[in-house]
Amino acid sequence: MSAIRTSRPKPFDLTLRVPGDKSISHRSVMLGSIAHGVTEVEGFLPGADCLSTIDCFRKMGVSIERTSETFVRVTGRGIQGLQEPKLPLDVGNSGTTIRLMLGILAGSSFFSTVVGDESIARRPMGRVVEPLRKMGAHIDGREDGRFTPLAVRGTSLEGISYESPVASAQVKSCLLLAGLQADGVTTIQEPTLSRDHTERMLTAFGAMVEREPNRVSVHGGQSLVGTRVRVPGDISSAAFLLAAALMVPGSRITIEDVGINPTRTGILDAFRMMGAELEVEQTDVWCHEPVGRITISAGELKGIEIGGELIPRLIDEIPVLAVVATQAKGETVIRDAAELKVKETNRIATTARELRKLGAQVEETEDGLIIFGPTPLSGGTCHSHGDHRIGMAMAIAGLASDSGVYVEGTEAIKVSFPEFSSLIQQL
Ligand code: S3P
Repeated sequence: MSAIRTSRPKPFDLTLRVPGDKSISHRSVMLGSIAHGVTEVEGFLPGADCLSTIDCFRKMGVSIERTSETFVRVTGRGIQGLQEPKLPLDVGNSGTTIRLMLGILAGSSFFSTVVGDESIARRPMGRVVEPLRKMGAHIDGREDGRFTPLAVRGTSLEGISYESPVASAQVKSCLLLAGLQADGVTTIQEPTLSRDHTERMLTAFGAMVEREPNRVSVHGGQSLVGTRVRVPGDISSAAFLLAAALMVPGSRITIEDVGINPTRTGILDAFRMMGAELEVEQTDVWCHEPVGRITISAGELKGIEIGGELIPRLIDEIPVLAVVATQAKGETVIRDAAELKVKETNRIATTARELRKLGAQVEETEDGLIIFGPTPLSGGTCHSHGDHRIGMAMAIAGLASDSGVYVEGTEAIKVSFPEFSSLIQQL
């Protein structure tokens, strides 16, 4: 088991880049695989989750070359050109891989089995299996297909109109990918808008996607054409470094070439509401995704109340937001975030439990957290619980602690931010 130790650094002023966006990296390989022609991906995230996606599509006969750590060349086979995998498709720890890929497998012409690690085995698959079955999919699995392992007998699909009970980009994207292969139109309505990378990238691959507020439709039978994808830096990784600057008085960080898609920038809104000094400048658009520079400086922070449509826009950043909230004056209340319970861990429970070990005052609620601040963080030993974002959040907590934080189980961090340890040591 690996571990990292962090403690209060001297104030810093840094400019850096973060690794490629995880959501966009997954989608570049998936859409590249089902497109016709070659897709070249620059700035691919070489994290374990995205490597699982590459491995699964290679098992379906797709030629995927990695000419460097971050450059990937996919020779697409067309959506009907994928081959029956001889071995189970192993998604490792990746919820995005399994849920999006199920949409592709459901409409294929072959049989496949899908497995993952222990965390994946606890995560709900019914949210995609149920609507896919409405489209005619043949999927079976543990507890009637609600959990892995799953088996898929590819078949022809019918378009549906589906009202998703959760704002989940994984559910939406799964159904869009199934919809590409279905007869007729597939429409997905979500309670609030989740990240829209699939919609944007489908357009870049030449597909027609009709968008209305919180609703998206795709016609079946369209083919995709390979393209060049330049992946922006991952704002979810950047969030840990922005938080680091907020935790160390007198510090400033600038992050360049980072994705600033508005469906992902909720954390910037939250930091601003807390009183952070924040500048965002759009510098470019890469493959239909806005890219820019973010600068943040430490200052007086105050507690905030968040919920509603903001939550899907910062869902992955809530653990580190909670860490920052321990240093803000007053109560921070996070509502409408029950989805946190079905992430890599139950992040309401793991965030509260680990922060309390450091002396923070945190209350768990049914759908979120209440953090009372400011509280000095004592330092001590924390654990990632096998969850990359919990491991990184606790390492950031160490930067504001009296005696340093030792985080165990940091091998989990390689899932999304393999360079995290070395970057944090730079501070
Ligand atoms: C993701 C969607 C989100 C997010 C996950 C990545 C994606 O999950 O938490 O880290 O790439 O589509 P949900 O769709 O379950 O909200």
